[in-house]
Amino acid sequence: MDSSYRFIDACWGKPVDKTPIWIMRQAGRYLKEYREVRQKVTFLQLCKTPELAAEVTLQPIDILGVDAAILFSDILVPIEAMGMQLEFGDKGPELYPPIRYESQIDDLTVPDPEDTVPYVMNTIRLLRKELVSRKVPLIGFSGAPFTLASYMVEGGTSRNFINLKTMMYEAPALAHKLLDKIADMVIKYLNAQIAAGAQAVQIFDTWGGILDAYDYEQFAFRYTQKVIEGLNRENVPVILFVKGGGSLLEKIKTAGSDVIGLDWMTRLSDARQRLGADVAIQGNMDPTLLFAPIPEIRKRAKMIIEENAGRPGHIFNLGHGILPPTNFEHAKALVEAVHEFSAQ
Ligand code: CP3
Repeated sequence: MDSSYRFIDACWGKPVDKTPIWIMRQAGRYLKEYREVRQKVTFLQLCKTPELAAEVTLQPIDILGVDAAILFSDILVPIEAMGMQLEFGDKGPELYPPIRYESQIDDLTVPDPEDTVPYVMNTIRLLRKELVSRKVPLIGFSGAPFTLASYMVEGGTSRNFINLKTMMYEAPALAHKLLDKIADMVIKYLNAQIAAGAQAVQIFDTWGGILDAYDYEQFAFRYTQKVIEGLNRENVPVILFVKGGGSLLEKIKTAGSDVIGLDWMTRLSDARQRLGADVAIQGNMDPTLLFAPIPEIRKRAKMIIEENAGRPGHIFNLGHGILPPTNFEHAKALVEAVHEFSAQ
């Protein structure tokens, strides 16, 4: 049976009237409505206040007309619940103290999300009510174990991941112990989101693509696959986005997601050919193309739709998050162009 949502139908590879589109980081600083809410509270307070998190989640639905809502939160929020200190400063996120020793891994907990991050599930429950009249489904999400481990071991964003890689090469058992514990957390966290009402879930592996093929399999893939196997995914499509994963697509497919997120460094038509017809694809416009004039944005949107060549199972998205200086009129023009050029 069709779900009555073009986004969900496309995830299952079913035909749709128009290509659905949503935009990674679609609630954020490029929207003045977001900045107004954000002025009054810190980023973490925003994540922890269901009424406000729901409000900013709905902004891109009402302003841009995208086909799915994504829960407003951050991949690092459940790490705080595992026992680390989390702060978002001017330089981005900071996690303290960075995980370097076995005793620190032993001290991390795999908590019940309803006890430790109830605001996430409360935001989802609130959103499901708000979304009925808007006829748009809700996406929940988590970071992939490898990406989360990178923040935990580096203590924040990193360029070369020297601390994490040192642990992987010098003390692999420690890295595996940490990744396995994170995977257990992610399974509970996503299942709690699904139980609360998330209608699809996306796993963000922002840093999986920095690994060579061997390390990807050992330290990233294995744990993402474990997560996907642990999900209560009946009727809930699972999207796996590995930024920089172009050379690993065949491997990534075997992790078992329903949809594969694609960045802009791989051509959509090539990805389609390599992956076959039994998995849907999400992507893949370069986020900086939104700084082009609107006619160029429209032309490039049409090119991506043409690369998909009418195959069912395409969800339009950017290849990574929308950038804060983006003009929202340009994002709106993209949404309109995708709907216009793909209309059956
Ligand atoms: O997509 C959405 O609109 C939902 C909300 C969402 C946020 N972060 C909000 C956010 C999602 C899905 C994320 C995921 C996330 N967070 C990822 C994976 C996706 C990706 O972009 O690679 C990662 C790696 C993070 C970690 C993170 N959060 C960093 C590195 C930063 C600082 C850099 C930055 O963009 O500011 C954040 C902060 C963050 N997360 C903001 C938002 C809206 C900005 C905070 C603010 O308002 O000051």
